[in-house]
Amino acid sequence: MTTSFEQRLAGELEQFIRDGVYKRLNYLDSPQGPRVRMEGRGEVIILSSNNYLGLSNQPEVVAAGKAGLERWGAGTASVRFICGTYTVHRTLEAACARLVGTGASLSFVSAWNANEAVPATLLGEQDIVISDQLNHASIIDAARLAKSIAKCQTAVYRHADLADLEAKLIAARDRRTRMVITDGIFSMEGSIAPLPDLVELCRRHEAVLVVDDSHATGVLGQHGRGTAEHYGLVGEVDLITSTLGKALGGAAGGFVAASAAVCDYLTQRARPQLFSNALPPTVAASALASIEYLEAHPERVAMLRANASYFREQLHELGFKPLRGETPIIPVILGETSAAIRMSELLLAEGVFVTGFGFPVVPQGQARVRCQVSAAHTRDDLDQALAAFRKVGGQLGLI
Ligand SMILES: Cc1ncc(COP(=O)(O)O)c(C=O)c1O
Repeated sequence: MTTSFEQRLAGELEQFIRDGVYKRLNYLDSPQGPRVRMEGRGEVIILSSNNYLGLSNQPEVVAAGKAGLERWGAGTASVRFICGTYTVHRTLEAACARLVGTGASLSFVSAWNANEAVPATLLGEQDIVISDQLNHASIIDAARLAKSIAKCQTAVYRHADLADLEAKLIAARDRRTRMVITDGIFSMEGSIAPLPDLVELCRRHEAVLVVDDSHATGVLGQHGRGTAEHYGLVGEVDLITSTLGKALGGAAGGFVAASAAVCDYLTQRARPQLFSNALPPTVAASALASIEYLEAHPERVAMLRANASYFREQLHELGFKPLRGETPIIPVILGETSAAIRMSELLLAEGVFVTGFGFPVVPQGQARVRCQVSAAHTRDDLDQALAAFRKVGGQLGLI
């Protein structure tokens, strides 16, 4: 029997379809890689994955996951402090801290959870969290959660606007702790946070700086150590949150990297730690192998950078207007949402998987297809994708 509750949801789903915002899932029948097998489509070149270093199907990473499953079984079957934790978690956490350059780290089942843990656990009624306007949804929700459960104040500063941030810091000078949170790389723009200025400003105002490096870990800096390495500021950021679900193997998981005291405090008090299972050991083992692979193969980061700049330049040559930048996130602005969705459908028909994003995910009139290249793409993959862009761009009268 259909309830009025289900009828309401069904009505809203129909409206999503009418508004052109309904998401259809594409099923893959192969590991993530530069080319994947998509149900009903055959082989497609994937330009919409966060598998930046191509490690999700790296033999060493897969083997480590299998060995982890054999050695530790499927999981903890409870919360870490109640049931025991695995030695692989400790080794992984040491590796995360070593990679990003902090004294310690603590793993979570996702970066979403890691972000939610930070302000809600570390702040209280006398404090404030100040967040960049374009921060990831998990940070936005983390601030809302902190306001609700820790009763701290919240504020938002205009995107990457240091003057606006400073005004907010001055207005909050009576707060016991001022916490500033920014993405390292902004995922819809592919732009990098102005970290040197943020570090200087936070020092001057005695604020705690938190950088979510989910898109930057394994991507920025000569050794893939993230936004801090990119700017020569390793060791200068108070807290770094990041994911294991993108460049570092792509399975799942996240971490907070900070001082030993901050990580210990989160171990004691963070609700996603205290009331939820740990990262499955197979995932911890494959993430650990990804970090070790990255440390031994910095040339992967250089390949990623070379592929990103090649693809960006070639799109320009074709007459598109990708946003300028240095990261492997390359958005091509198209204007209307319908144009972005149409373009992504036509590209998929040509065997290239790129997602279109429209309002409200991005501002009105700035709908885009967002290309993400990987170190694993060959020149052939990229050239074939560019040929599809040329054809589709011509069909749509964009170039
Ligand atoms: C900036 C940023 N933070 C956090 C997350 C969440 O990562 P996870 O999938 O590990 O929860 C994402 C994922 O899209 C992200 O882009």
